[in-house]
Amino acid sequence: MINWLLLPLALLSATADAYDASPTLRARQNANSSSGVGSISTTWYTGWHATDFPLTAVSWSKYTHLTYAFAVTTPDVNTLGLETSDEELLPQFVSKAHQNNVKASLSIGGWTGSRWFSLNVGSAKNRTAFVKTVTGIVNKYKLDGVDFDWEYPGLQGIGCNVVNQDDTSNFLSFLHELRNTTTGSDLIISAATYVTPYVDASGQPSADVSAFSQVLDYMAIMNYDIRSSPTTGAGSSSPLDDSCAPSGAQFGSATSAVKAWTTAGMPADKILLGVPAYGHSYTITSGAELLNGSDSILGAYPQYNPNRTRLGDKWDSDAGLDVCGALQGPGGTYTYWGLIQEGLLNADGSAKGGISYRFDNCSQTPFVYNPSTQTYISFDNAQSFTAKGNFIHAEGLKGFAMWEAGGDYQDTLVNSIRSAMTTGEASTTAKKTEPSQSAANSIHQRSSRDTSSYAILPALFVLLGLSQG
Ligand SMILES: *[C@@H]1O[C@H](CO)[C@@H](O)[C@H](O)[C@H]1NC(C)=O
Ligand SMILES: *[C@@H]1O[C@H](CO)[C@@H](O)[C@H](O)[C@H]1NC(C)=O
Ligand SMILES: *[C@@H]1O[C@H](CO)[C@@H](O)[C@H](O)[C@H]1NC(C)=O
Ligand SMILES: *[C@@H]1O[C@H](CO)[C@@H](O)[C@H](O)[C@H]1NC(C)=O
Ligand SMILES: *[C@@H]1O[C@H](CO)[C@@H](O)[C@H](O)[C@H]1NC(C)=O
Ligand SMILES: *[C@@H]1O[C@H](CO)[C@@H](O)[C@H](O)[C@H]1NC(C)=O
Repeated sequence: MINWLLLPLALLSATADAYDASPTLRARQNANSSSGVGSISTTWYTGWHATDFPLTAVSWSKYTHLTYAFAVTTPDVNTLGLETSDEELLPQFVSKAHQNNVKASLSIGGWTGSRWFSLNVGSAKNRTAFVKTVTGIVNKYKLDGVDFDWEYPGLQGIGCNVVNQDDTSNFLSFLHELRNTTTGSDLIISAATYVTPYVDASGQPSADVSAFSQVLDYMAIMNYDIRSSPTTGAGSSSPLDDSCAPSGAQFGSATSAVKAWTTAGMPADKILLGVPAYGHSYTITSGAELLNGSDSILGAYPQYNPNRTRLGDKWDSDAGLDVCGALQGPGGTYTYWGLIQEGLLNADGSAKGGISYRFDNCSQTPFVYNPSTQTYISFDNAQSFTAKGNFIHAEGLKGFAMWEAGGDYQDTLVNSIRSAMTTGEASTTAKKTEPSQSAANSIHQRSSRDTSSYAILPALFVLLGLSQG
C-alpha cells in the first residue's frame, strides 16, 4: 500500500519540478506572493505520516508556505512537545522548505495538543514565559513562522482542555507580546480557527476581533469536520455554502464563516480558507442513502446511526482512547488518495463502477456511496476545490490552507484550487440549485466541531489529531 502511494507521488513531484519555471523564477514568484488576494497556497505536513509521505513526496512548488504539525502544549509553560510529531524531522522539513523557497512554519496545538494553552497564556508572567518558549523554538529550528491552532480559546475542544473565560483576551495579549519581540517582529504569525469568531468572556462569538488582525499575518478558517445531525442527515463536512440547508440545521460553511469573521472586523485579505484533502464516512443501509422520492439520486442528508462508525482508509485512526482517556472512533475518514486506493474513485477522480456519485449544488461538494459496504462518504474533489478557489477569488481572501499535504493524489486538489483562486475564471454559477431538489436543499446543514450535543461526532472525526488542524 505504501509503495502504491509513494511511487506515483515521488515521480510526480520530480516531474512538477522539472516542468515548472527555474528555481530562481520560482523563488521570485514565492517571494512576491506574500501579499494580495489568492497569494498564499499553504498546507500542513504531519510528522506522524512521514513514513508514508516523506518530505521528498511533497509538491513544494505548489505552495508558498508549509506548516509542520504539531508542537503540542504542555502543563509546563517553558516546554512545547514534539515527541508525537517526529522532532528529528522538523529541521529537515525546514531546510527542505528553504531549498524550495517555501516559508516554513510550525503549528502549535491541534485537536489533541491544545490542552494547556489556557494556562500558558493565563497570566502576565506565563505569557512572558510562553513568548520565550515560542521564540526559543523559532530560533532553534530557524522557522519563518508559527501557527497557533488552539482548539479553542474559551471553548472546550477534545474534552479535557483547560478553559478560561478570558482565553481570547489572554491570547491576544500574548500575541501582542510575541509580536513585540525581536524574533516576533519578523515572524509569520498565523492561526487556525473555528468557523465562528473567537468567543468573548460570555462564550459568544466576539463582536470585534479586529485587534487580532493587527498581530496575525493571516488566519485559516478550518471549514472542515463540519458536524452533522443523525436525524437531519449526514451532509457535507466542508460546505461552501449552507444557506440552502434546512433552517436550524446550518452548522457553518465557508460562506457563513467568512461573513462572520469579516463582520467582526477581520479583513478578508487576512483570511485563508481551510480546505480538506479528506472526507468523512457514515454507515447507511442500502436504500436509505437515496434522495427522498428518488430511486437513483444520492441524498445529501441521509439519516444515519452515529454508533455505526467504521474504519476509513489507511490513515484513519482505529478505535481507542484519546488523550483525555475517552473511548473514541474509529474516525471513518478517507484521504482523497484513500478514496482511490479503497476502490471508490478512479485515478481521474470519477466514481468507480458500482459506486453512486452525486455533486451537491448547495454545499458544492461531492458524495459517494458504496452499496456493498453501505458506506456513504462526504468529501472534496477537483470540482469542489475549484468552487472553493473561485470563492477565494470572489471574496478577496488571501488564499487557502489544506489539511493535509499528504492527502492529495497527484496534485489533483491543489492544482484545482490554485488555478481557480488565481484566475477566478471557472464557472461559479449554479451554486444553489440541486437537481429536482428543493427537497435536498431544504434538508441541509452542518457545522464544525463545537460544544453542541453532537460534540461526539467531531470527536470521532478528529481522533488523535488525524483531522487536524
Ligand atoms: C509582484 O507581482 C506584481 C504583479 O504580478 C509585479 O508588478 C511586482 O513587480 C512583483 N514584485 C516583486 C517583488 O517581484
Ligand atoms: C501559569 O503556568 C503554570 C505552569 O507552567 C500553571 O501552573 C499556572 O496555573 C499558570 N497560571 C495561570 C494563571 O494560568
Ligand atoms: C510593545 O512594545 C512597546 C514599545 O516597546 C510597548 O510600549 C508596549 O507596551 C509593548 N506591548 C506589549 C503588549 O508588550
Ligand atoms: C419523503 O417524502 C414523502 C412524500 O413527500 C414525505 O411524506 C416524507 O416525510 C419524506 N420523508 C423524509 C424523510 O423527508
Ligand atoms: C448509540 O449508542 C448510545 C450509547 O450506547 C445509545 O444511547 C444511543 O441510543 C445509540 N443511538 C442510536 C441511534 O442507536
Ligand atoms: C448543478 O450545477 C451544474 C453545474 O453548474 C449544472 O450543470 C447542473 O445542472 C446543476 N444541477 C442541478 C440539479 O441543478
